Amino acid sequence: MLKKVFSVALAATVLWSCQNQEEEIEVANEMVYAKDVHSYAQPNTTAVEHLDLELDVDFVEKVLFGKATWTLSENHGETVVFDTYDINIIAVTAEGKALSFTLGDKDEILGQPLTINIPAKAKQITIQYNTNPGARALQWLDPEQTGGKKSPFLFTQSQAILARTWLPCQDSPGVRYTYNAEVSVPVGMLALMSASNPQEKSTDGKYHFDMEIPIPSYLMALSVGDISFKAVSDRTGVYAEQDMLEKSAWEFAEMEDMIVEAEALYGPYIWGRYDVLVLPPSFPFGGMENPRLTFATPTVVVGDRSQTSLIAHELAHSWSGNLVTNATWGDFWLNEGFTVYFEMRIMEAVYGRDYSEMTASISHQDMVKDLTAMMADEAPKTALKMKTDVENPDDGVSAVAYDKGYNFLRLCEETVGRERWDAWLKNYFTENKFTSMDTERFLEQLQGDLLTPDEASQIGLDIWIYGTGIPENSPVPQSPRFAVVDSLRGLIEKGATPDFSAVTDNWSTFEWVYFIRGIKNPTPELLLTLDNAYQFSASPNAEIMAAWMQPTIRNNYTANDFKNHVDIFLVNIGRRKFLTPTYQAMIESNQKDWALTIYAKARPNYHAVSRETMDALLEFVPEEG
Ligand code: BES
Ligand code: ZN
Repeated sequence: MLKKVFSVALAATVLWSCQNQEEEIEVANEMVYAKDVHSYAQPNTTAVEHLDLELDVDFVEKVLFGKATWTLSENHGETVVFDTYDINIIAVTAEGKALSFTLGDKDEILGQPLTINIPAKAKQITIQYNTNPGARALQWLDPEQTGGKKSPFLFTQSQAILARTWLPCQDSPGVRYTYNAEVSVPVGMLALMSASNPQEKSTDGKYHFDMEIPIPSYLMALSVGDISFKAVSDRTGVYAEQDMLEKSAWEFAEMEDMIVEAEALYGPYIWGRYDVLVLPPSFPFGGMENPRLTFATPTVVVGDRSQTSLIAHELAHSWSGNLVTNATWGDFWLNEGFTVYFEMRIMEAVYGRDYSEMTASISHQDMVKDLTAMMADEAPKTALKMKTDVENPDDGVSAVAYDKGYNFLRLCEETVGRERWDAWLKNYFTENKFTSMDTERFLEQLQGDLLTPDEASQIGLDIWIYGTGIPENSPVPQSPRFAVVDSLRGLIEKGATPDFSAVTDNWSTFEWVYFIRGIKNPTPELLLTLDNAYQFSASPNAEIMAAWMQPTIRNNYTANDFKNHVDIFLVNIGRRKFLTPTYQAMIESNQKDWALTIYAKARPNYHAVSRETMDALLEFVPEEG
């Protein structure tokens, strides 16, 4: 059944691509793949369709021993090329016979192409390999770095181009395949993947996984640890270490409601189960939309369900991203902009418009802040469609794709009205499922099936997509709940005692973040007054603490053991979105020494993605080895 849907979608792609003159296109095996500067694979010559993976997880050596059997597309070419990064290739075989292969020169960002000559009749190629302890996708945590402190822990982060550091694969978002895996781990540990998952530990440490829906390599995921499961509804649940399990299940109790609302908006959730794995705090992102199993930071488990927009976001990727996927990382805004838009709609449906307008307003603030800064020295990067000269796509994660993307789609909605927009969007996800999408094809569909020429020019499609900065007609979300925050803050700034618990007791994280961000003149006296009233420096809520660390660090605030709290935060939490602005504030306020002292301690706890960004920011040169 699925197979059939897949090939219909492929045929549609061929039609489109022949009309598209922008990309260099070769036609082979009915599927046409966009040129991807971030991958060596040549899927137009030979593409993969299915993976049988065997993995042995060795926590002592910090190595994965793997055997990847790739089923090739019919009518394949004479060679197949895979992406690899610091992977040791032990042998390549087809039907038991050794094949010759070459590993090309290493590029620091892209790694090495693995090129294999395919015997004419071979349908499958087996690659036996092992990873390197420094593999960038993998974070191997020692027991002390986990909640339980007894077992080690492993998790992957493959997006954008790190899957190739733990699996030789065609690491381009346009190449989809199904997979099965046999994973072997030390007895007493649970293994999970972006696939059908076990809910209990096996007695022999062996686990089997199936992902029968075709996915791109950046959605390959694995985690191993002393992990338990707790059901939340029939099709949702949480995985976490024991110390976080109950709290996480409570925090995410509304997952089912979110799925129900999401389905009502844009069509059925096709992936089966939706579970969330709550990782140790070094996870470098807020969340990652690994199919069937979102990976999430524990910093959203704050005890008041105020950070669930992160779940709405990762769930929304089950449509925008996992079903309709950006063709290359230059079209990244299609993944994230649509997802932020969809996230807001889910939040609105579950919690009401007044609530979701807070998120939208914060997103607008982020857009203004990031884009204003970028316009100074990297204006071209503020266009939605990225120019991908070979740069690491992990560095392209900014408010452009997320918040400018969101505001553009919101403008489309406001221009045509919700009814037409929702009908079009639902159809967009249905018609394009299992295909990859680029900006040009999206524009064709938008103009072909939705916008009148007048509407298109009213929006200014080219200005939004290819132009820089924030277009003049950007929506400016207004939240009534934030109006309350503004007036209360205004009173305090004029000298009123900050004693408004009747109001502030009901504030969500968004109100507090907005409150802190809006402080106009953060004098030491005002900061101390606020800190004493609201205990910001000791806040267990990472989002609030991250906002608080801006005015304080920038004004050399030290009261209430503040510096020590910053130290603890930065050593424990590895979420890049918090680390970057915090270290940045230290640098910009002449406290780089302080930053480096903390970083020396914290760096071993960070995942490679965060480490690399912070190394560059702090001009830190790691010692070899
Ligand atoms: N897919 C992204 C994370 C990502 C992007 C990883 C690019 C690597 C490269 C994920 O869905 C995401 O956007 N996470 C956000 C969540 C937030 C917007 C709610 C994050 O981690 O902050
Ligand atoms: Zn996202």
